[in-house]
Amino acid sequence: MSTPTGHDSPADDFGAVALTDPALLADPYAGYGRLRETEPVAPARNMDGSHLWIVTRHDDVRTVLDDPRFANDPLSVPGIETDKRADLLIAMGLPAEYVPYIADTVLDTDPPDHTRLRKLVSRAFTVRRVGELRPRVEQITDDLLDALPAHAEADGTVDLVEHFAYPLPITVICEMVGVPEADRPLWRRWGADLVQSQSPERMGTALVEMVDHIGAMVEQRRAEPGDDLLDALISVGDEDGDRLTGKELITLVLTLVIAGHETTANLIGNGTLALLSHPDQLALLRRDAGTAPRAVHELMRWCGPILGTRPRWATEDVTLGGKLIRRGEPVMAMIVGANRDPRRFEDPDRLDIARAYETRGEQHTGFGHGMHYCLGAALARQEGEVAFTRLFERYPELSLAVAEHELEWLPRPGLRRLIRLPVHLG
Ligand code: HEM
Repeated sequence: MSTPTGHDSPADDFGAVALTDPALLADPYAGYGRLRETEPVAPARNMDGSHLWIVTRHDDVRTVLDDPRFANDPLSVPGIETDKRADLLIAMGLPAEYVPYIADTVLDTDPPDHTRLRKLVSRAFTVRRVGELRPRVEQITDDLLDALPAHAEADGTVDLVEHFAYPLPITVICEMVGVPEADRPLWRRWGADLVQSQSPERMGTALVEMVDHIGAMVEQRRAEPGDDLLDALISVGDEDGDRLTGKELITLVLTLVIAGHETTANLIGNGTLALLSHPDQLALLRRDAGTAPRAVHELMRWCGPILGTRPRWATEDVTLGGKLIRRGEPVMAMIVGANRDPRRFEDPDRLDIARAYETRGEQHTGFGHGMHYCLGAALARQEGEVAFTRLFERYPELSLAVAEHELEWLPRPGLRRLIRLPVHLG
């Protein structure tokens, strides 16, 4: 059997695990948990039928995310000359001249390009800036919560995914970047079309409109500087005078929307469901809002939104878990396996919001690991803390409007996303 680079596959059964297997999609914790114990580095087949390796143990996941022999950009692999992701987006019908803005992001780069970009961005996207945003995050959250009764359907239920989990992160990103109120409905539409819609036409239109819009914003800010994230990104520079280019600025803002929207929304959706279905844990959180930071760490571990990262590409032959991964083969780090690995977490399937996390809190890999570790982790955690505490303060009688087994999940291998979360506000 042939692999993406034309090598003979190391195993005749390459692709034996289908990531679209209904059983895996229905219960990824059980499915990837079984693999973690029986075949921790396994040959698999992706949604489009292509082959890849999946890695499910905590230590192996961290190796894949941290070892320079695994690259984010397939073009870093000697002998590979096409960027499949960009080609795929163009083949879907997205305009070729705009595709680099979403296919050529910080997540798609390797050192030294990544080191340079990350250093510049980190100087603007600081923990302090995130901390200062907290009162606005609280206000945005409260406004959305106030509006919930108006979204009740005929049967009295409210869909928390649509009316709370999704609008919160995109509004926070707008706030942080400095998008004027009047333009925010546009950004919400673009955000939804880019990350939620499966329609290439809508994605393409959103991409073009957004790139042009951010480009115009950058021009306007260069003329009249302010003091939000966009201004900081424009003016940031290093000791050698290196700065972000216009294209890099646009790509970065777009990346924040793509990377920070659906992920945070699903932390809020999945986390709310987890708390509703574990009343003892919810009671702990409600008794003491000071437990919220730990609770968010634990929810990230137990039901985090990302099941598996985007593929890494082996730049040379690598042996992992006794398997030979050949140069050019893609590997997906299954966070869902790592975060329930009993080698790392005691009683891993139990949700325990009082679980002790070390000071840096990052034993779980919900935000990734290594040099591509989530840039927005502090922001996402803050949004989660505010969302969970305010939601249950404002609606103490909140309850699920359907039985848990009736809830539907989007059938996508890398992502844990509820399609709807109907609740009674009480
Ligand atoms: C990277 C998860 C929220 C911006 C990552 C990675 C993960 C992740 C797993 C690493 C991916 C990889 O290595 O392949 C999450 C989750 C979030 C969240 C679960 C919400 C709960 C955010 C937010 C922002 C953001 C709010 C910004 C507004 C980024 C960026 C990267 C990244 C820019 C790429 C960093 C790099 O390549 O150096 N995120 N993220 N994320 N995230 Fe997040």
